[in-house]
Amino acid sequence: MIAIGCDHAGVEMKKAIIEALTEKGFELKDLGTDGEPCDYPVMAEKLCKEILAGSCEKGILICGTGIGMSIAANKFKGIRAALCSDSFSTKFTRLHNDANVMCMGARTLGPGLACELAEIFLTTEFEGGRHQRRVDLITAIENNN
Ligand code: RB5
Repeated sequence: MIAIGCDHAGVEMKKAIIEALTEKGFELKDLGTDGEPCDYPVMAEKLCKEILAGSCEKGILICGTGIGMSIAANKFKGIRAALCSDSFSTKFTRLHNDANVMCMGARTLGPGLACELAEIFLTTEFEGGRHQRRVDLITAIENNN
């Protein structure tokens, strides 16, 4: 199950992503917002808690720029949130960083690109190996600071 959430800036993009990914066979849990004003840290917290509880394996967060969502999501221990706006970075944040949340900007990306990036994010596996050691070092930073 993939969690998806947005603030008021990301409602249309969220709809487009849900439609595109559902067509591709992904199961999404829509956490809102469906239009009512929403503070992005509140949505980031809601989505990260789904992932940390194990009810969703990955998440997609959308706000105006994607930046607020990524800052908020990365405050959670165990969340590795990546701001995604191009296919190379989206692919490599899965391969090398094992990112479990992707953040996108509804005011900076078109819906077509956002849907394509979401699919890349969800279909690219973590490479492990030397990258696992680096991810473990990130976890150590979380644990020690
Ligand atoms: C909301 O207007 C806007 O600040 C928010 O969507 C986001 O861009 C924050 O990073």
